[in-house]
Amino acid sequence: MTVTGQDQRTLWVTGAGSGIGRAVAVSAGRSGYRVGVSGRRPDALDETVSLVEQSGGRAIALPLDVRSDDEVRSGHARLTEAFGPVTDLVAAAGLNAKRRYWRDQSRHEFEDIVQVNLMGSVRVIDAVLPGMRSGGRGTVVIVSSYAAWTASPHAGVAYSASKTALSTLALSLNAQESSAGIRCTHLCPGEVDTDFLSLRPEVPDGDARRRMLSPDDVARSVQFVLDSPAHVTIDELVISPVPQKR
Ligand SMILES: NC(=O)c1ccc[n+]([C@@H]2O[C@H](COP(=O)([O-])OP(=O)(O)OC[C@H]3O[C@@H](n4cnc5c(N)ncnc54)[C@H](OP(=O)(O)O)[C@@H]3O)[C@@H](O)[C@H]2O)c1
Repeated sequence: MTVTGQDQRTLWVTGAGSGIGRAVAVSAGRSGYRVGVSGRRPDALDETVSLVEQSGGRAIALPLDVRSDDEVRSGHARLTEAFGPVTDLVAAAGLNAKRRYWRDQSRHEFEDIVQVNLMGSVRVIDAVLPGMRSGGRGTVVIVSSYAAWTASPHAGVAYSASKTALSTLALSLNAQESSAGIRCTHLCPGEVDTDFLSLRPEVPDGDARRRMLSPDDVARSVQFVLDSPAHVTIDELVISPVPQKR
């Protein structure tokens, strides 16, 4: 589907300097969405903007840290100033730590993971909701995890706890905001070959990575959600590679 004219949509993607977020930005840009790309690394975001432009789309880099209320607020303001109200949000910024078991986790890292995965999602959702309510529509995709869908003992205590909570964000948004035309998807990918894997205690090798999903596989699912007719809610979507460790 290509978005044009009165249907013009503005998508905000966090975690867009790499991996799934970048693939989502490129896919949506190609489909005609104007895209705001956020993350902490300006150079990585500029590269995503170039990739969107090379595929014929329009994008703006909005460097920010999702742990900061002020940075999220000003990033949102800059996006709406450039491209108009945000109609779609993909919250893909995420964090994990190498020390992820009760025996070795650090409280500082635990809190950081919750701040990024859970509160970072809350912050960007809070920023876009007023505009979505007044526009009478909105699609929110929360990039959660397979670990939020089924027990994954090695995913990390903080990671699993923060990602499981995202399911509640999606359920509550659909329960409370659907009357305003807002819908939310809790997206639960299995293993994806991205930089995120470097945060594992044991980093997978090339062979293991080739058996995983690619960021484009996940972006295709996100695009399907974004392009679904406005009266359709996809509450939860689980996507995994056939040889996913279960
Ligand atoms: N790869 C997998 O196997 C897998 C599986 C299931 C779910 N996921 C989820 O998918 C999402 C995207 O991860 P990915 O696999 O695409 O890995 P990735 O390439 O490492 O992407 C993570 C992104 O999050 C951004 N980020 C981290 N902390 C941030 C902060 N404080 N503020 C703003 N942005 C921040 C990073 O950008 P900066 O460093 O520039 O800030 C990075 O672009 C994550 O939520 C992850 O939990 C991944």
